[in-house]
Amino acid sequence: MSQWTASVGAQQLARLLDAQTGTEATGTVTSLNGRRVPAYRSLADRVRLLVLEGRVPVAARLPAERELAAALSMSRTTVAAAYEALRGEGFLESRRGAGSWTAVPAGSPLPTRALDPLPPEATGSMIDLGCAALTAPEPWLTHAFRGALDQLPPYAHTHGDYPAGLPALRRALADRYTARGVPTMPEQIMVTTGAMGAVGAICRLLAGRGERVAVESPSYANVLQLLREAGTRLVPVGMADRLGGWDLPAWRQVLRDAAPRLAYVIADFHNPTGSLAPEEQRRELVEAARSAGTVLVADETMADLVLEPGLAVPRPVCAFDPAGSTVVTVGSASKSFWAGLRIGWVRAAPEVIRSLVAARPYADLGTPVLEQLAVSWLLEGGGWDAAVAVRRDEVRASRDAVVDALRRRLPDWEFGVPRGGLTLWVRTGGLSGSRIAQVGERLGVRVPSGPRFGVDGAFEGYVRLPFTVAAPVADEAVTRLAEAAHLVATGAPVAADAPRTFVA
Ligand SMILES: Cc1ncc(COP(=O)(O)O)c(C=O)c1O
Repeated sequence: MSQWTASVGAQQLARLLDAQTGTEATGTVTSLNGRRVPAYRSLADRVRLLVLEGRVPVAARLPAERELAAALSMSRTTVAAAYEALRGEGFLESRRGAGSWTAVPAGSPLPTRALDPLPPEATGSMIDLGCAALTAPEPWLTHAFRGALDQLPPYAHTHGDYPAGLPALRRALADRYTARGVPTMPEQIMVTTGAMGAVGAICRLLAGRGERVAVESPSYANVLQLLREAGTRLVPVGMADRLGGWDLPAWRQVLRDAAPRLAYVIADFHNPTGSLAPEEQRRELVEAARSAGTVLVADETMADLVLEPGLAVPRPVCAFDPAGSTVVTVGSASKSFWAGLRIGWVRAAPEVIRSLVAARPYADLGTPVLEQLAVSWLLEGGGWDAAVAVRRDEVRASRDAVVDALRRRLPDWEFGVPRGGLTLWVRTGGLSGSRIAQVGERLGVRVPSGPRFGVDGAFEGYVRLPFTVAAPVADEAVTRLAEAAHLVATGAPVAADAPRTFVA
């Protein structure tokens, strides 16, 4: 099992059940959707929803029947019947004398389609909302490569491997942190192959097989998979409601009880929810991580994509540990500029960077020189900020179009509108996000379903939509999704082997 085993106490479960929106107090005979059903059924449905939404992790130990019955002021028979129903549906596994653990019925098959962009001939028939990444900003990309070519000759006389990154780019990136109020030296920066390369390097250095890594639940799908494949044990921590950042009491508990080696967080326009962690939370999480001896990996890939003009952006997570031994920051040019550059970086204490650099020859040796020159050219007066400003305008227009289309065509789908980032995390009105994704694929719209962003099957009732398409395409995509939702709601048969695609 890839996951750390959490346990959920009776009082905690009772509190989570009480907090479920749209539900009445437990022990009544009213279900989540207002139908009158036996009390045990209502309880089973509510627990199932907590698991599917990631509020109770998969593989978490549930309280004994007697304890939960007391906490809910219910009869033990009702709780026993609810547990039995959950077992029958695959949401609970029990071993006599050992207890009961949450589960999800079927494992998710691996994606079968490559991440490659759709070929031009397919773009008319398939709208691909799988990747939260934009086309290159022009003319800046072309200018950047022309500038890079002009700067190439001195580098051409070297062997070209720079495991820490080109000095010019390390300096330019360090200067940006300093300008953001976190004094940084070039020795605190390593250039990587995208943010993924950065997280991979950090994971190889700091988290071996079997080690615990706390992650937000939901979180960025590809990093979750990278951590699984590295053999780490994921410890999911639910996000706060309504784009409110982190659930700090839950984080404190996990940092204290599980003492994970690493915690991976996206404070700035979290992928997939779009949440922006307030400054006070950042300070507190860094303090809690420091006390627990946990290294906090702060992924800032989305940080530049501020969509509300005048939004007071909180200070970076590393501002609360500028030396960079507790907070290891990951950055990327992929969302601010273009994913095709494959340029990312790590900001950390010089000794952490030295260890990462020392390990680099056994990974990918380095990052291509021309791309590094292109980014340093952009950062040093070549128009990075102007390109990012245009990017923000495009993304804002797309976000507004997606939100508008959803409100018109799928009014019972729920979401909070993020103030930045590239993603909308949408609750699909009680329908299975996986089935919508499967039917959508047949109707010409590709969306990733919620479980891709959860640990072990949570978030079945969600899909993620990116702000990457212009208004007319957004409208057509949502029209197709509405059709898919209708087919799913009316029980249309879905091919069991419907293809799954990669997401980014
Ligand atoms: C939070 C987050 N981290 C990392 C990545 C991947 O970044 P890169 O293309 O720099 O590897 C993404 C891309 O969607 C992302 O959203």
